[in-house]
Amino acid sequence: MKIFNSIAELRLELDSQRQNKLCIGLVPTMGNLHAGHLRLVEEAVQNCDFVVSTIFVNPLQFGPDEDLQAYPRTLKEDQSKLISAGCHCVLEPSVDELFGSNLESQTTLHIPSISNMHCGKRRSGHFDGVATIVCKLFNIVNPSKAFFGLKDYQQFLIIQKLVADLAFEIDLVGIETVREENGLALSSRNSYLSKKESRQAATIFKNLNEVAIKIQQGQRDFQDLEQQAIINITEAGLRSDYFSICHAQTLEPATNLDSDIVILAAAYLRTTRLIDNIRISL
Ligand code: PAJ
Repeated sequence: MKIFNSIAELRLELDSQRQNKLCIGLVPTMGNLHAGHLRLVEEAVQNCDFVVSTIFVNPLQFGPDEDLQAYPRTLKEDQSKLISAGCHCVLEPSVDELFGSNLESQTTLHIPSISNMHCGKRRSGHFDGVATIVCKLFNIVNPSKAFFGLKDYQQFLIIQKLVADLAFEIDLVGIETVREENGLALSSRNSYLSKKESRQAATIFKNLNEVAIKIQQGQRDFQDLEQQAIINITEAGLRSDYFSICHAQTLEPATNLDSDIVILAAAYLRTTRLIDNIRISL
């Protein structure tokens, strides 16, 4: 696997790959790779000729009180995992390499309406930071396909809108969430949790599942279902940020008429913010 810190050098490599008419796949990450990230890479390896992963802890998507400094950085281990997954090359740029010396004056991208809901409402500017870096990586790599996890469901919809609105010729592939045996969605932030806390955190998915089953059984009192789930999550020792039953494309509150539904949840365990979701088709 080739390792690049320089955008120019990666571009040279990709130019030569493109001359061979290879299908290039992109898997953007912030590193501290786990089996969820690797599922994306494996899927990319199966569906593309040449797979580029990126590891970059993007300062633009962290708020001032968030965990940018503490975010786990495990480059060497990540590289071994990428090799095992069959990845062909990885871009590990510095902040300077991507943004130059003046991060504050960067051009940024805002994907309207959907960026301001749910996680976006609570993490001001977060999705602008995500959209900006993803757009930049698309321009650097110019992939035919790009792979993202559905665990970050709102992020996925925002990137879908970015691709459509800015006419990127990229096939977006959404990959199902990889979980612990107890249902907890794998996340780099799980490394902040003790074993006991990670068992506690599984209550998020348990409640998503229970509510999904109730809706499938015909319950439509969405607000009551949300309130009860928030109580359960709080009783398990977490601080619920939101628990929302939504239309799966608009992320507006679901109505009785909707058949494509996503339930989105976010909760804190101490200072660790965890998110998860479940989709239902009625
Ligand atoms: P990161 O949290 O490192 O996630 C990288 C990719 O892995 C994302 O597409 C995410 O949805 C996916 N992923 C994370 N956990 C997963 C799991 N348990 N199962 C399946 N896929 C999972 O998301 C980001 O980084 C950043 O916002 C990024 C898109 C790289 C932009 O900086």
